[in-house]
Amino acid sequence: MARHSSSPSLWTRAQAGVLLVAVLVLSVPHQAESLPADAALPGTDASPAPAMQTMAAAPAARAQEADPQDVASFFPGIKGDLTKLTWAHAVNSRDLLAKSLNDSGIMMLEADVVLGTTPESPNQVPVMGHPPMNTSDLSLQEFLRSVVTHNTDNNATRKGVKLDFKSIGVYEKAIDSLKQNFAGVPDFPVWLNADILPGPVNSTNTPVDAARFLAKAKAEYPYLMLSLGWTTRWGKALGNETVPTAFAKYNEQTVKSMTDALDAAQITQPITYAVRAAFVANSLDELKMLLNETHQASGKATLTVWSSDETDIVNVAQLKNNILAIGKDRVFLDVGEELAKQLDLASSALSTCASVVTTLLACAMVLFRAL
Ligand SMILES: *[C@@H]1O[C@H](CO)[C@@H](O)[C@H](O)[C@H]1NC(C)=O
Ligand SMILES: *[C@@H]1O[C@H](CO)[C@@H](O)[C@H](O)[C@H]1NC(C)=O
Ligand SMILES: *[C@@H]1O[C@H](CO)[C@@H](O)[C@H](O)[C@H]1NC(C)=O
Ligand SMILES: *[C@@H]1O[C@H](CO)[C@@H](O)[C@H](O)[C@H]1NC(C)=O
Ligand SMILES: *[C@@H]1O[C@H](CO)[C@@H](O)[C@H](O)[C@H]1NC(C)=O
Ligand SMILES: *[C@@H]1O[C@H](CO)[C@@H](O)[C@H](O)[C@H]1NC(C)=O
Repeated sequence: MARHSSSPSLWTRAQAGVLLVAVLVLSVPHQAESLPADAALPGTDASPAPAMQTMAAAPAARAQEADPQDVASFFPGIKGDLTKLTWAHAVNSRDLLAKSLNDSGIMMLEADVVLGTTPESPNQVPVMGHPPMNTSDLSLQEFLRSVVTHNTDNNATRKGVKLDFKSIGVYEKAIDSLKQNFAGVPDFPVWLNADILPGPVNSTNTPVDAARFLAKAKAEYPYLMLSLGWTTRWGKALGNETVPTAFAKYNEQTVKSMTDALDAAQITQPITYAVRAAFVANSLDELKMLLNETHQASGKATLTVWSSDETDIVNVAQLKNNILAIGKDRVFLDVGEELAKQLDLASSALSTCASVVTTLLACAMVLFRAL
């Protein structure tokens, strides 16, 4: 906008004013339903994303390019609808990695990282696998090398990766090894994921140490997406126990434990919250609050809804309602095929009426300032 050097007439200023007023008037009836403006703005030039601020410290050539960690711009085909991102799950072996890289329909590779051995490495190193596995035919290093090579050779079908770290030990080793073996910043999305706090339903799984996880990310990769979750007990883990709905949710205290941890670590990088589908269905107010209170991500934090297998009982109608209430521009959908089909989100509007209005408002303000 600022490129236009010719001075605009008063007439165009008046026109912009009329537009602004019209948008304001239109937006009033919807305000009550909306997330606060700073939570829904898709980043105007008034509030540069923290990722972009830290990019300035990266090699100068990169500063001019789009931020490769911005998933929506890395995959322009999804047109800002984060639920359209496609996933391969548990890409923890050579065979699955080869298949996933070769599948042009897949955008993100989700994979688990544990300490273990490979036929080539008798010493324990970060390898791809899910506990209780401690052997694999694919080390994390080899996994990443393959993705880098694929992305270099196949620009049209580049992939991003979400690495799910199963312990603080493997995470710290992995980050150190990444720093040594992959100079510079990744030019594709890399998400660092872990369950860092205890969550529903009274899960007794040990979380990954929150303070250490956040401190290391901030120190070594302050521009990468943090995918942060809570431990959960649902699906198979419930056995035949029935749980009252009041417990099957992310409650206020659970949500606050996360924002407290982020505040304590003074995190400024992009954040997505990994949330289990069954609980998302019962936690709309709490999750809205969580996104609103994530000041660290400049109001641009997102959710990534995941689910396990068919033993994950989910109230599909309520889940769909809540995803749409938060907006498809704020929710990644990493669930099984069957649940995705039931949700049938493709036919729904991108974002809530409220956030569309906020976006229009932001555009009008940018325009007004540029004139
Ligand atoms: C890669 O995909 C193509 C078709 O998309 C298929 O013909 C080929 O066999 C695949 N290769 C591997 C190694 O899976
Ligand atoms: C790997 O797991 C097996 C089976 O659970 C166990 O016996 C073995 O001690 C583990 N190896 C290491 C190095 O932890
Ligand atoms: C790779 O593709 C993206 C769009 O998909 C494009 O913006 C970029 O310039 C391409 N890079 C190269 C090196 O061809
Ligand atoms: C979870 O723990 C709380 C506090 O100990 C207890 O009151 C509640 O009944 C438990 N809920 C379930 C479903 O186990
Ligand atoms: C729940 O399962 C356990 C075994 O896993 C069984 O002993 C118990 O009878 C079951 N309870 C009900 C109410 O079905
Ligand atoms: C959003 O956050 C602001 C600032 O912390 C707070 O004043 C406001 O009440 C919050 N709104 C909601 C809906 O939680």
